[in-house]
Amino acid sequence: MRIHNFSAGPSQLPLEVLKQAQDELLSYQNNGFSIMEISHRSKYFEDLLNEAKEDVKQLYKLDDNYDVIFIQGGASMQFSLIAMNYSLDNLSCAYVDTDVWTQKALNEAKLAKINAQFVASSKDSGYKFIPKIPEDINASYLYICSNNTVQGTQYKQLPKSKSPLVVDASSDFFSKELDFSNIAVLFGGVQKNAGIAGIACMIVRKDFYERSKQKELPLMFKYSTYVDNNSLYNTPSSFAIYIFALQMKWLKKQGGLNKINELNTQKAKIIYDILDNSNFYTCKAAKEDRSLMNVCFKTPNEELDLKFHTQAAKEGLIGLKGHKIVGGLRASLYNSCDFDKINALANYLIKFEKENR
Ligand SMILES: Cc1ncc(COP(=O)(O)O)c(C=O)c1O
Repeated sequence: MRIHNFSAGPSQLPLEVLKQAQDELLSYQNNGFSIMEISHRSKYFEDLLNEAKEDVKQLYKLDDNYDVIFIQGGASMQFSLIAMNYSLDNLSCAYVDTDVWTQKALNEAKLAKINAQFVASSKDSGYKFIPKIPEDINASYLYICSNNTVQGTQYKQLPKSKSPLVVDASSDFFSKELDFSNIAVLFGGVQKNAGIAGIACMIVRKDFYERSKQKELPLMFKYSTYVDNNSLYNTPSSFAIYIFALQMKWLKKQGGLNKINELNTQKAKIIYDILDNSNFYTCKAAKEDRSLMNVCFKTPNEELDLKFHTQAAKEGLIGLKGHKIVGGLRASLYNSCDFDKINALANYLIKFEKENR
């Protein structure tokens, strides 16, 4: 039996993807071997990788000005590499503070001895909203985290900026179409919304490829190495790329990113409506900046929060505990969270309130 899983990441995968992986575990496309057991330089694996890249480009409607690469080390590894690859000598790097994931990114840039600082922050409000960002910042790049997994806030529109945008999309990857006119890099660990742990996917614009090409860095730290070698400079995390490839096909089958965004909006609305219409639950994030992916909320006190998620787990709903930094509760409603799960959570929210008001 499958349980209703609301974990923030790694998180649930679509059942279809799991079933296909199960079917092909012993014999990939009826070839008598699993994808984990063959050379990453074989035609089987290269075809799979190339098709996944093509699907990424189709889903985000990208032209050949962008390359797609896969790299190990998760999103956190990219925090330092981004600064090392894309900072320009004469311009500092600008970061927007929306809490822990941008703080970590800035910190890693500094540890790599790169000139970088916050240019906007919503810290004073307790990260309730997405801060206003001056448009005229002239920086090597403007770094944002599009969805704040811990606080439950999300950019509804990407900021307008004079500087090229670098976006950590780990927790809203492939959840909606994006205007790429100013995106130089979109990246994320894929284990929340597009697969399993083991890789980060990076979409990189050609001019940023050139920046990285010019840098004197060890080859494994240089993004241009991954572009030049089709992400096969060394042995990649092949099973993670395989699951990612299946997930891209699944997304296309759902109707693409506009359709998935429509569904994500409907799903989140069901849950937020219950929270908004209640005097029992509270949601910290400002309404206009609330995340469609991570719904963060609280009951009237910490004991009830604890009771909420422990009782939920007994009733078949897991992963509802908030991040340790903020406490409270969090329901992650990623792409693969279907309406059955949403309805189960909705019913549980209503029932728990009635029983504990
Ligand atoms: C927005 C965001 N960025 C980065 C990370 C770090 O990802 P990883 O564990 O792949 O390094 C996370 C993890 O939860 C995240 O939510």
